[in-house]
Amino acid sequence: MHRYDVVVVGGGLIGLVTAWRAAQQGLRTAVADPEPGGGAAHVAAGMLAAVTELQYGEQTLLDLNLASARRYPAFVAELTEATGLELGYRRCGTLAVALDADDRADLRELHAFQHSLGLESHWLSGRECRRLEPMLAPGVRGGLRVDGDHQIDPRRLAKALLRAADGAGVVFHRRPVARVDLGRDGRARGVTLDDGTTLTAGQTVLAAGSRSGTVEGLPQDALPPVRPVKGQVLRLRVPENRAPFLSRTVRAVVRGGHVYLVPRENGELVVGATSEELGWDTTVTAGGVYELLRDAHELVPGITELPLTETLAGLRPGSPDNAPMLGHAPAVPGLLLATGHHRNGVLLTPVTGDIMAGLLTGGEVPAHARPFSPDRFHSPSRLEQPA
Ligand code: GLY
Repeated sequence: MHRYDVVVVGGGLIGLVTAWRAAQQGLRTAVADPEPGGGAAHVAAGMLAAVTELQYGEQTLLDLNLASARRYPAFVAELTEATGLELGYRRCGTLAVALDADDRADLRELHAFQHSLGLESHWLSGRECRRLEPMLAPGVRGGLRVDGDHQIDPRRLAKALLRAADGAGVVFHRRPVARVDLGRDGRARGVTLDDGTTLTAGQTVLAAGSRSGTVEGLPQDALPPVRPVKGQVLRLRVPENRAPFLSRTVRAVVRGGHVYLVPRENGELVVGATSEELGWDTTVTAGGVYELLRDAHELVPGITELPLTETLAGLRPGSPDNAPMLGHAPAVPGLLLATGHHRNGVLLTPVTGDIMAGLLTGGEVPAHARPFSPDRFHSPSRLEQPA
């Protein structure tokens, strides 16, 4: 039996940052995950796109996204200092472009919406877009330049968080969690691993990404309403001897789907992403690859020359309102949730770490975290009604 103050279920970005920040606060912390640092972080492109991914009706989430984006420079500096690792944080900005008149009208509306919220974005003509990014298709009709939407390499981020957490004293148990253990009083007391090892803790954090709603041992109404949302992503490589292909993230909506190209300084060009509600399926399909390449090719025709180096599919942890659940779980004392980050897991990593460490040390829920309490999906009265 192992005793801790905090056990974190899940060693993805959210679990790792929570564990790192908790250990920095002096809490004896463990992470249970067979492959910490894997999961969605291995697939994600790493856009930090609070402004370009803004959706109508998600202004509350925008505030949290912006709070996390503001933390990024100091977060990266601290993590690099702690680990000696470079994270691929690139303050390159984003260009969202329109390929036809309808896209252009939509992008104009998004621009007006961004301005109404005081966000910085600049409208460019098609010619101005191509002056910035000469590889863009000649047919580009206009675009939005968003200088504050940057990128990070999520694989490097995960590796650094692993090292930082390890350095801060976090203990890693590299096995699947069989169940969350509850005491007779209904309080969470830690977890049991698949080999029977028990990790007891006063506080248990469920941060298992898309799998957070499937963990055993909890009453049905305490499970967070998280579902897997599949995203297929490609990686291309820009050869070393040629000029940089793109200097910033370029994205568009093509036939109703989002396509983005994220150029890394090391020559990797990430193309994403599909969004598919297919349960636990992580198959890379010919159709998914075809659609991504077709749409990316419409945006930047030259991509077909580049070597295709990787195709992957991952699962976003989707919640009913596309926003995360951060805080004490309803109905189970001692259990906290940090899950449901959907399209924004990489962006929300720094602010999630701060919020969770604050809660684990008994602090107040900060104002920007209050709308994301897991309570918002909990209605015991509905569950108690006869069928
Ligand atoms: N935020 C990018 C994606 O979820 O595809």
